[in-house]
Amino acid sequence: MDTSGPWTRASAAAGLLVDGEARPTVFARTSARAAELGAFNLGQGFPDDDPPEVVAEAAIAAIRAGRNQYPPGAGERVLREAVAAHQEQWYGLTWDPAREVLVTTGATEALAATLLALVEPGDEVVTLEPFYDQYAAMIALAGGVHRTVPLVSRAGEDGDLVLEVDTTALRAAFSERTRAVLVNTPHNPTGVMPGPEVLEVIVEEARRHDALIITDEVYEHLTFGSPHRPIAALPGAQDRTVSISSAGKTFSVTGWKIGWITARPELVTAITGVKQWLTYSSGAPFQPAVAEGLAMPASAFEELAADLRSRRDLLTAGLREIGFRLSVPEAGYFTVADASPLGETDADALAERLPAEAGVVAIPLSAFYRGGDAGAARPFLRLAFCKSRSTIEQALERLEAWAAPRR
Ligand SMILES: Cc1ncc(COP(=O)(O)O)c(C=O)c1O
Repeated sequence: MDTSGPWTRASAAAGLLVDGEARPTVFARTSARAAELGAFNLGQGFPDDDPPEVVAEAAIAAIRAGRNQYPPGAGERVLREAVAAHQEQWYGLTWDPAREVLVTTGATEALAATLLALVEPGDEVVTLEPFYDQYAAMIALAGGVHRTVPLVSRAGEDGDLVLEVDTTALRAAFSERTRAVLVNTPHNPTGVMPGPEVLEVIVEEARRHDALIITDEVYEHLTFGSPHRPIAALPGAQDRTVSISSAGKTFSVTGWKIGWITARPELVTAITGVKQWLTYSSGAPFQPAVAEGLAMPASAFEELAADLRSRRDLLTAGLREIGFRLSVPEAGYFTVADASPLGETDADALAERLPAEAGVVAIPLSAFYRGGDAGAARPFLRLAFCKSRSTIEQALERLEAWAAPRR
């Protein structure tokens, strides 16, 4: 039976086509290995935390109240209204909940439906590199051409690793073939939040080339210093921007898969033209629960971020002491650690060995590069701090024991 087809493009773009088969993602592989070896899993980005009480209770109440059948394709009205109110309250953006908000099965479906709906074969899509691995797969599935803008790294004054966007390279990535620029801020895997000068270049170039701006803002509330600024709020951006976010990271409910899009009605209609053939709708009892979450007072969001920040500080300080060169993330779930000071120059090989050698799982940064080639970032690992303090502490103890003879 000939099983060739578009899936090979998606798998190859994500560096997962091996001997004609789709390999599972590095996250699936390493999580399985962590379970098998009883290793501490600082790999995959799912939190150890429970959702806020109000969110959990609302989901339970919705199930008990019988909200268990197909919700409307565009999402429950209560959630669409909550998304619009949240965007207005936090960012001053106004959206019509009836025509400009679309509920999706996580940000994953929102990204898939947007790219499949709006990218024609041969169209170019610009992203930063490293990038969330789904981007390459979906751009390829749509037949698009992936143009990347590598983040550049340098040593900061304190010896830490600093990762940043080179605006000259960013401008150069745009051309008359650019259909969209897909911007992930706050950024996974690095926790970088591109500053206003970068966001302004994106809007300027998108307007010059009449390109769409697609944003992935799933870490919008998990910021540790300056607040998140959505690109749609920049002058001249809102009409050409598809903003995507989801509940998974903010409320520690990655298994619920409730996401949303905000965009002008014609864009929402176009994206719905694909989304309704993917899942149609999902997550009936979780939608009103996420609406409750979005309506929480600002102080509750700040507490979630402050708690995560303290775990970021625990992990980054510990890794620095062990001998890694650290990049301190401004947001999100992850830190990037350079293993070269410990004599490790190939993070792929290191990530394979670490579960057995140290009892800790981490992801090589190459998983977020085209063709798995991380270039100058080859010795870099991504480690998650969305885990419990005790998991982080025990992982650090194990890494310390592993690293001691190497210093
Ligand atoms: C940058 C980024 N975008 C999208 C997603 C997927 O979001 P969801 O779980 O809502 O589908 C993730 C999850 O790890 C992510 O890190």
